[in-house]
Amino acid sequence: MPTYGRLPITFEKGEGVWLWDQQNKRYLDALSGIAVCNLGHAHPAIHDAICQQSKKLLHTSNLYGIAAQEKLAKLLIEKSGMDNVFFGNSGAEANEAAIKIARLYGHQQGVEKPCIIVMEKSFHGRTLATLSATGNAKIQDGFSPLVEGFIHIPYNDIGALTKTIEQNNNVVAVFVEPVQGEGGVNIPAPDYLNNIRELCDKHKLLMMLDEIQTGIGRTGKFLAYQHNDITPDVCTIAKALGNGVPIGACLAKGKAASVLTAGKHGSTFGGNPLACSAAVAVLETLAADDIIEQAEAKGSQLCNILSEKLKDSPAVSNIRNKGLMIGIDLDRPCLALVEIAQQKGLLINVTAERTIRLLPPLIINAQQINLLAETLSDIILEFTTS
Ligand SMILES: Cc1ncc(COP(=O)(O)O)c(C=O)c1O
Repeated sequence: MPTYGRLPITFEKGEGVWLWDQQNKRYLDALSGIAVCNLGHAHPAIHDAICQQSKKLLHTSNLYGIAAQEKLAKLLIEKSGMDNVFFGNSGAEANEAAIKIARLYGHQQGVEKPCIIVMEKSFHGRTLATLSATGNAKIQDGFSPLVEGFIHIPYNDIGALTKTIEQNNNVVAVFVEPVQGEGGVNIPAPDYLNNIRELCDKHKLLMMLDEIQTGIGRTGKFLAYQHNDITPDVCTIAKALGNGVPIGACLAKGKAASVLTAGKHGSTFGGNPLACSAAVAVLETLAADDIIEQAEAKGSQLCNILSEKLKDSPAVSNIRNKGLMIGIDLDRPCLALVEIAQQKGLLINVTAERTIRLLPPLIINAQQINLLAETLSDIILEFTTS
C-alpha cells in the first residue's frame, strides 16, 4: 500500500556507518534507519548472535520458558533500575502495553474512566491507541473515533501539567518522551522529568516515559531519564534494542510492575529467541565497547563543527543536541534537503517541516563526524543562499 513517501533509492548492503545502493554508490548514514542501527550496519556481533540462535531455535511460544528472553530481561532490569518487562515487536506495541498498564492501574485505584496526560507534538505510534495519544492532528486525521482517555497539554510546561492534574480526578498517568523526536528534536528544561516525577508521586500517578527513540544510548545514557537521576514507573523501548531485528519492550517498576497479570496481555512473537538473542548481543556490545559513554562527546563534536561552519548563516536559527540526537532549525521549510543530501551521498531526515534531524550510528568515529558536519553545512549554506 502506498503508505510511505519513499525516496527513489534502494540499498544493497551496509557496513558500519556506510550504506551502498544498487548502483554501488556509497552513503554516510546519519539517520540509522530512524534511530535503529545504533551499532551501525552489518555489525559482526549481531550477525553472529542471529546466526548462532537460528541454528538452534527461532521461535517456540510464550507458553514455555525462553532462555534468551530471561537473559535479556535480566540485562534490561539491571541497566534500567526497573523491576520487570513485557516484550513485543515494535514501539507502538510497547506503548500499547504502557497504556493498558495505566488503565488497569486506574481501575485498581477506583477511577472509572482513567485518563492519561500526553503532550502536544508527541509521537507514540500508529496503532489506534498510540495515534490517539500522539499530539499531531495530521497523524490522527481520518481515523475518528479516536481512542478516548488522553488529555493533550503543551510539552515542557510544568504549569500546564500541574493545572491539568489538579483539575481532573480521572488522571492516572503522565506519558511523555524525554526528548521529542518526530515533533522536532524538542529538548525540555533540564529538570522537566524531575518535576514530572515529583508531581506523579504527589498525586499517585504513573510516570510513563516513551524512550523508543531516546533509549539504548542515543542521548549518552542507556535511557535518557538516567540524566535526571530518577526512575519512571513505566518505560517503553524498541528501535535500537535489536539494531534492526524487530523487538519492543515495556519496562515497569513498583506498583506498575504488578498490574499486568496472567491473561491480561500477550504477543505471539514478542520476546522470541531470535529477537532476544540479537538484543542481548546489542546490549553486550554497547557495554563492552563503552559506546554509550562516548555519545555525548561525539554529539558535542558534531554540533561544534556545525555551529562554527554555520555561525554566519541567518537562515540557521538553532542547533541543539542531546548526545547523538541532533536538531538543526532553519528559518524555512527544508524537506528538499533530504534529496539534495542524498545526491551528495549523505542520508539525513527533516522533521516538523523546518528541523533537520540527525541520528547517526553511535559507532560513528571522529573522521566520519567531520565528514558529516562538513558535507551537511555546505549543503545547508548552498540551499539557504541560492
Ligand atoms: C517516540 C516514539 N514512540 C513510538 C514510536 C513508534 O514505534 P514503531 O514505529 O516501532 O511502532 C516511534 C517511532 O518513530 C517513536 O519515535
